[in-house]
Amino acid sequence: QRDVVSIPVVVHVLWNNPAQNISDEQIASQMLVLNQDFRKQNPDISQVPPVWEDTAEDADIEFHLATIDPEGLPTTGITRTQTSKVQFSAFEDDVKASATGGIDAWPSDQYLNIWVCALSFGLLGYAQFPGGPAHTDGVVCSYQAFGTLGTAEAPFNLGRTLTHEVGHWLDLRHIWGDDGMEPGTECTGSDLVEDTPNQAGPNFDTPSFPQISCNNGPDGDMFMNYMDYVNDSAMVMFTEEQVERMHACLQGPRSSFLS
Ligand code: ARG
Ligand code: ZN
Ligand code: CA
Repeated sequence: QRDVVSIPVVVHVLWNNPAQNISDEQIASQMLVLNQDFRKQNPDISQVPPVWEDTAEDADIEFHLATIDPEGLPTTGITRTQTSKVQFSAFEDDVKASATGGIDAWPSDQYLNIWVCALSFGLLGYAQFPGGPAHTDGVVCSYQAFGTLGTAEAPFNLGRTLTHEVGHWLDLRHIWGDDGMEPGTECTGSDLVEDTPNQAGPNFDTPSFPQISCNNGPDGDMFMNYMDYVNDSAMVMFTEEQVERMHACLQGPRSSFLS
């Protein structure tokens, strides 16, 4: 039986326009969703088709806003920084350093850093996989796709962007295997997880069951997985082997989070 792992979080809010200085309530709404999703307590888990009900798994990972900052002082686990940058870029990673208009990470072996800001190109979020540079480790989320109230905008206003990005931070790949960039390669990639069906490419919006690709009938793609690209309302589960992969990450490259 595995232990529940509890991860301290710092949310760095970067704002140019005051509306981007999202409320504590909006941050709390996001923490609630993140915790529900990683404990299989999300009310919409009932959307899982019967064929995958036994595969859907409680990830046994919890997240809480940090109460002690890197200097050992009490904190809300939220930093708020005004910036002259109108938008940040995933390619430049500029939100992650004060020198480029963002704010530096807290020690990323002790905290999950979450930067919330305006992102260019309509990007909802992005994450760094385990094993990368410490000073850029963590996840970034658009203020328009964070939490369930305030500045969150449908159809990405149910907090699932962060669930997806934290999945990456814990070493999960996209469920379709990130193939298909070259024509004819659609079914050749893998998410390195055995209990997710091989899937041609991302699903979008709110698909109906089944969505068949790569000869994966009759059940088809597991599009209701958090690691697909469907709308927030349509992604509701991790699988057993995805959970094993996340805990392998916590035993390995992210073992500093085990107490
Ligand atoms: N990295 C993805 C993007 O920005 C995140 C997709 C999240 N999907 C969602 N339904 N919230 O394109
Ligand atoms: Zn992704
Ligand atoms: Ca694929």
